[in-house]
Amino acid sequence: MNERETKSNGKARVAILGYGTVGISVAKALQMLGLPSIELSQIFNRDVARKQALPEARFAGFDTVWTGSVDEALGSDATIVVELIGGVDPARDWIRRALTAGKSVVTANKQLIAYHGVELLALAEANGVQLLYGAAVAGGVPVIPGIMQGQSGDRITRISGLLNGTCNYILSRMEAGDRYADVLADAQRLGYAESDPTADVGGFDARAKLCILSRVAMHVELNPDEVGTQTIADVDAVDFAYARELGCTIRQVSRAQREGGGMYARVGPMLVPRESPIAWSHGTQNMVVTTGTLGGDVVFSGHGAGGDATAVAVVSDIVAAAQGSRPVSLPVIVSAIAGALAQVDANIDSLLQRPGYPKHRLAFVVTTEPCRTSTIERAVTEMAKLDCMLARPLALQRLVVDDKDEETA
Ligand SMILES: NC(=O)c1ccc[n+]([C@@H]2O[C@H](COP(=O)([O-])OP(=O)(O)OC[C@H]3O[C@@H](n4cnc5c(N)ncnc54)[C@H](OP(=O)(O)O)[C@@H]3O)[C@@H](O)[C@H]2O)c1
Repeated sequence: MNERETKSNGKARVAILGYGTVGISVAKALQMLGLPSIELSQIFNRDVARKQALPEARFAGFDTVWTGSVDEALGSDATIVVELIGGVDPARDWIRRALTAGKSVVTANKQLIAYHGVELLALAEANGVQLLYGAAVAGGVPVIPGIMQGQSGDRITRISGLLNGTCNYILSRMEAGDRYADVLADAQRLGYAESDPTADVGGFDARAKLCILSRVAMHVELNPDEVGTQTIADVDAVDFAYARELGCTIRQVSRAQREGGGMYARVGPMLVPRESPIAWSHGTQNMVVTTGTLGGDVVFSGHGAGGDATAVAVVSDIVAAAQGSRPVSLPVIVSAIAGALAQVDANIDSLLQRPGYPKHRLAFVVTTEPCRTSTIERAVTEMAKLDCMLARPLALQRLVVDDKDEETA
């Protein structure tokens, strides 16, 4: 465990800023899980007595300090600050202060991360702490860690997805014959849509998430204000009738893809062929399809919103921050392996890494140019000594089946 994130009792201490829908669910999840290495030390909210009077106050720990002063929360001995206030200001300043004070930060704040993620990530790096935001896109669906840890061995060229559960709920009900205004009213009554639904139906919520995904998956910084959006409010029942005749349905689709030397990104209602996985998703579900040069399409799907689903992602990030875990990146591993092979004069021919393995046990294959078995055995002995290697690599020779094949290890 990172020394900075450890206190005398050996536990990471967590301060939650914002005891609303997600904050309450995070406290509930921490209580339910009873993680021995994590302690909820502080809860900050404005008018905190009102929060302490809620039945949900019972999810706080016996020793949890409740405070209405953000200075007290940020100045406490908490080692991880969990920002669940929402909005850009003052959340941005509070996260900056936490990072500068050497605390790791976990946030679910998509607008903040879309607009200011680069600056805040650099600040975290400069202070040797972590900024984790797995809950900022698709709530409880582990799309960000999935891409970061499971697909770093691929070159992702396209992201398409359903990034707003409210729009998916509205459009999938309209597909079944309901009217836009009625469905929106139901969504508001059920708490799926805000009283002002503009951010959802207008595409601005999905646009922020698309920008975050583009950064994570394609290492491209998109300015959210420059990503085109189209509202779903103009979609009518007749459009679904014609979509059906074309073998399609209609969904709010967020897309970003490499095109030529640049990027194309857009959020809006689209005709989606019925055979596409995007057409199969109903209700408030989120779905993200990544397209990689090597791995092809990978689909992430599940509940994108709601306190409990979002808390899963937040708590997973808290656990990662508490463990001080920074997954070793594939380029680092590759350079260490290349070094071991160079020592014995063997050359890498290709590298293969498929998504879907646990983040700290990335399995991958390296093939070499033809060389002696004894050479490979010496290289494997060197590789086995590397810190990033969890087990001795398995060396397999490739059977020569025709003249073109060479024996490689
Ligand atoms: N809800 C979801 O399904 C979901 C899903 C994914 C991501 N998120 C993200 O998670 C974050 C939290 O969302 P939420 O749904 O939990 O919001 P919420 O229910 O409105 O909770 C926000 C909490 O922060 C408090 N707060 C707001 N401004 C404050 C200030 N200036 N000073 C002190 N306290 C303040 C609020 O207090 P009051 O009670 O006094 O207003 C409230 O308790 C947002 O960034 C949101 O985008 C939410």
